[in-house]
Amino acid sequence: MSRLVVISNRVAPIREGKIAAGGLAVGVYDALRQNGGIWFGWNGEVGQKPETACESAGNITYVTLGLSKPDYNEYYRGFSNATLWPIFHYRIDLARYSREEYLGYRRVNAMLAEKLKPLLRPDDILWVHDYHLIPFAAACRQLGIGNRIGFFLHIPFPTTEVLTAVPPHRDLFQTLCDYDLVGFQTESDRMAFQDYVCRELDGLIGTDGSLTACGRNFRAGVYPIGVMPDDIRRLADSYRGRRPMIGRTAEGKLRKTLISVDRLDYSKGLVERFLAYEQFLEHYPEHRRNVELIQIAPTSRTDVKTYRAIRKQLETVAGHVNGRLADLDWMPLHYLNKSLERRTLMGLFRTANVGLVTPLRDGMNLVAKEYVAAQNPADPGVLVLSRFAGAAHELGAALIVNPYDCLGMAEAMDRALRMPLEERKERYEDMMRALRAADLNAWRDNFLRDLRTFGRHRVVTASRAAV
Ligand code: G6P
Repeated sequence: MSRLVVISNRVAPIREGKIAAGGLAVGVYDALRQNGGIWFGWNGEVGQKPETACESAGNITYVTLGLSKPDYNEYYRGFSNATLWPIFHYRIDLARYSREEYLGYRRVNAMLAEKLKPLLRPDDILWVHDYHLIPFAAACRQLGIGNRIGFFLHIPFPTTEVLTAVPPHRDLFQTLCDYDLVGFQTESDRMAFQDYVCRELDGLIGTDGSLTACGRNFRAGVYPIGVMPDDIRRLADSYRGRRPMIGRTAEGKLRKTLISVDRLDYSKGLVERFLAYEQFLEHYPEHRRNVELIQIAPTSRTDVKTYRAIRKQLETVAGHVNGRLADLDWMPLHYLNKSLERRTLMGLFRTANVGLVTPLRDGMNLVAKEYVAAQNPADPGVLVLSRFAGAAHELGAALIVNPYDCLGMAEAMDRALRMPLEERKERYEDMMRALRAADLNAWRDNFLRDLRTFGRHRVVTASRAAV
């Protein structure tokens, strides 16, 4: 069987038990662990020469390298996280563009392809992840790498009108045609991509569903990333009995808890969530002193300006909510800028009555799926979920909210906390069926099956050739 080579900007921590940042690292790590393979990417260090180091742990071989300061600034901090990330999350207002950073982004992609080339065997399958590496296949093709290469986008793919705000959009997005298969989280993302290919790249859709554009014939598909529900349930079970101090009165009586876990990012809707929680306590005073919201928000990309701004704003809003409503024996909002170990997190999910996952825009949001999977089937909590998270496409049995509607979210919090056991169970079972139908194995297996089936990249001689 051919080897799997995964390429992503962020590589999960090599040591078992260390905390991974974001859904990509968690998902890819679990997917690779089963079949083994190579994981290639940045080691997280800045100011280093880009020399590859190789380390094996279990059946995964990690090949990582550092980035020089200019590479980090232009490729990661600049074009990836100050241009692409906000635009893909519909925040054109927060995006900035510099041609120098774009060139740096292209340069680092080319450098990464060069570093990978000597490690490859002809029948290796390459699976590239996320927005940092859009032109990676094009860089590989230029080096004569003819292997099957697939790309999976973990974040939303915006509509053509929004995407064209990226100044070099054509130059960049035409490189997606160099992949054999381009995968998305949801059907809306795939449709937006197809629309872009047809309208901006003069692409054509074939009767077999394939796309032809820029002289290439390739495929696009939907592969929602999932979790392993039974593993999560076992992890949450093993935490039983160790309920944290949060969520108790001074006498040790349990309070109801709502929980949210997000990287500290403006796309996650944290400000709106805090304000909605304040409105909830105002409109439903009977819940005061009886509930607590735990917000775990590890800081992220702290040297990007927009991230410093959102952090400040959140500190103000959190201080405002607690300052207004807290008492000597009750803190309504616990706001923690730290990561927690996975078992602790699943244990917290198990004990929380409500999981609040209300991003303004999110590719999938694995926290929503993890919260559901961690529940006790005999007494499950309720998921309140933003309609703008990819997960809402599968978890229709959650209480679906619009994160821009603070009062609507406040009403959903009240409804979730009052929901009768029978209804909670019905919704939970419905969502568990969805989680099992599209788990993490299905995500990996379906993507790799399609990549193997449709692979060997086809160059079309006439650009608008018959399809
Ligand atoms: C999101 C992105 C990932 C990224 C992760 C953590 O989940 O889709 O590509 O790795 O955030 O962000 P960071 O910038 O720390 O890698």
